[in-house]
Amino acid sequence: ARTVARTPEGAVTVGGLDVQQLAEEFGTPAYFLDEADFRARCRAWRDAFGADADVFYAGKAFLCRAVVRWLHEEGLNLDVCSLGELTTALAAGMPAERIAMHGNNKSSEEIHRAVEEGVGRIVLDSFQEIARVAHAAAALGKRQRVQIRVTVGVEAHTHEFIATAHEDQKFGLALAGGAGGAGGAGGAAGGPAAEAVRRVLQLDSLELVGIHSHIGSQIFDTSGFEVAAHRVVGLLRQVRDEHGVELPEIDLGGGLGIAYTPDDDPSEPQEIAKALRDIVTRECEGAGLTVPRLSVEPGRAIVGPTAFTLYEVGTVKPLDGLRTYVSVDGGMSDNIRTALYDAEYTVALASRASTAGPMLSRVVGKHCESGDIVVRDAFLPADLAPGDLLAVPATGAYCRSMANNYNHALRPPVVAVRDGAARVILRRETEEDLLRLDVG
Ligand code: LLP
Repeated sequence: ARTVARTPEGAVTVGGLDVQQLAEEFGTPAYFLDEADFRARCRAWRDAFGADADVFYAGKAFLCRAVVRWLHEEGLNLDVCSLGELTTALAAGMPAERIAMHGNNKSSEEIHRAVEEGVGRIVLDSFQEIARVAHAAAALGKRQRVQIRVTVGVEAHTHEFIATAHEDQKFGLALAGGAGGAGGAGGAAGGPAAEAVRRVLQLDSLELVGIHSHIGSQIFDTSGFEVAAHRVVGLLRQVRDEHGVELPEIDLGGGLGIAYTPDDDPSEPQEIAKALRDIVTRECEGAGLTVPRLSVEPGRAIVGPTAFTLYEVGTVKPLDGLRTYVSVDGGMSDNIRTALYDAEYTVALASRASTAGPMLSRVVGKHCESGDIVVRDAFLPADLAPGDLLAVPATGAYCRSMANNYNHALRPPVVAVRDGAARVILRRETEEDLLRLDVG
């Protein structure tokens, strides 16, 4: 479904449009998002998981109203984790029952709004939050559907996962541990997660529909998910044995990786769906449990590959015998992932073909910080010059959504390209936008 290509002259086209023209029309830096590719990925996930499972797109990867409409049209649900994301989702017409509300410290306003709007589920993350959501629902005269987020002792990053007895992180409630753990299990069996189940089941204003687990990001194989599923099913079984209740849903979170560089080899939605389905079915049947409805929350795997960032080269500075620093007109304000995570990206000269030899380059931004690197090591043509356009692919996820105003940078627009037409779906910030906030 990818529509990024090159003309015989070497210019990159997206959705049939020449990047040179796009740069002239929309300016640089800018993100260009291929709508057909986005929709195709939504459908691939939906089809892979089928009608008896739900796919929640993780809005934190990138969200705006156009994206919400596409998700709605393609039959996906939406995971939001703040009032801002919730407001965007509702403003674009996503039915509240198809929204899941996340967050490890939801404000009382976020909880109130989520319950009042009738979101399909709130994912509970702490003992305090169980009480807060129960209180908000009771005050509104509602019964809120909730899941409990558990930490299963699996932390996955890329090709590896670490299974430990206890996870040292802020999210969720640990499956492991006994009496006296966080919140005080009070001598009953199991860790904080089992205690959370007990508390939720006692509250009339909450309906416990399932257990949620999210094990990490940019994961390339399914083994970490399999361990997580095994442990979550263990809790379902304990809940059945202790309370006589079979919880109807399991959410195994997001985290499926994408190819940022040619070395990355992500799994396809089909493979992931099959692996998760198989393990959940096998484990539940083994435990004599009705197989729960499965859901997942991919963000990066849907939107990440669908966009690239277009920059204009401003300066080219060779450091003898070392490398050439190529400065572009954006940087860590539009892609902080390289500085933050040592993330790897590729980059290509997009505005013309070049037969010049390769030049070891570091593509850097224009911010007042040495760590302001977009692509740490890349070979670019030795005749690279100011005015050339560079494209950095796979910037659809966690780039615009983590963009910032460092050095009062104006956050770039997101331009959706479809059927040979381009339209702005999130406009570029202006100086007036910055000054409007500055009321001193
Ligand atoms: N569900 C939950 C509960 C999550 O916390 C996340 C991501 C997702 C789903 C979606 O994960 P994905 O499929 O997009 O990997 N800013 C970082 C990633 C942080 C992700 C946090 N949670 C980055 O730029 O790589």
